[in-house]
Amino acid sequence: MINILFVCLGNICRSPMAEGLFKKQVAEAGMNDQISCDSAGTASFHLGQQPDKRMVSTASSHGVKLNHKARQFNKADFNTFDYIVVMDESNFNNVMKIKPLKGKAKVIFMRNYDEYVLGVKEVPDPYYGTMEDFQTCYYILESCCRNFLKEIIETKSLKLQSNHNV
Ligand code: 4NP
Repeated sequence: MINILFVCLGNICRSPMAEGLFKKQVAEAGMNDQISCDSAGTASFHLGQQPDKRMVSTASSHGVKLNHKARQFNKADFNTFDYIVVMDESNFNNVMKIKPLKGKAKVIFMRNYDEYVLGVKEVPDPYYGTMEDFQTCYYILESCCRNFLKEIIETKSLKLQSNHNV
């Protein structure tokens, strides 16, 4: 099983959206038995909370269900997960601050997988933005998650179900 953790600041907007989207794409590829994912925030402001209502309604407008309760990223995540996928540079710095000497997780930027805007590092935080910013966030994450899934399938030599697609 490949375990993936999506990380943002509050764990109520970007990372639960990435988790919900990625779960849908993995299910559509028929790979639930090979890939699993979760999400976490580097901050503790929203512990236990459901995703932000604006993100839930944006997700729902694209047929994606968000079912997550915010939790804080912690040191043990470096050994539980194979990949820690951060949304922006400040998430990256916060994650690296508590990185243990030994840990299996590879820390990567979500936006590295964006086929449309190559070279941009960050998935912009929509929290203080408009509903349009939430939609933009969805489209960025949709593209990144799809490409990330393709890359995992290739690098880990996973098998796609014959009647499925990515
Ligand atoms: P997220 O967005 O990191 O994508 O979940 C945020 C959520 C909450 C806050 C900032 C960003 N906040 O300042 O409370």
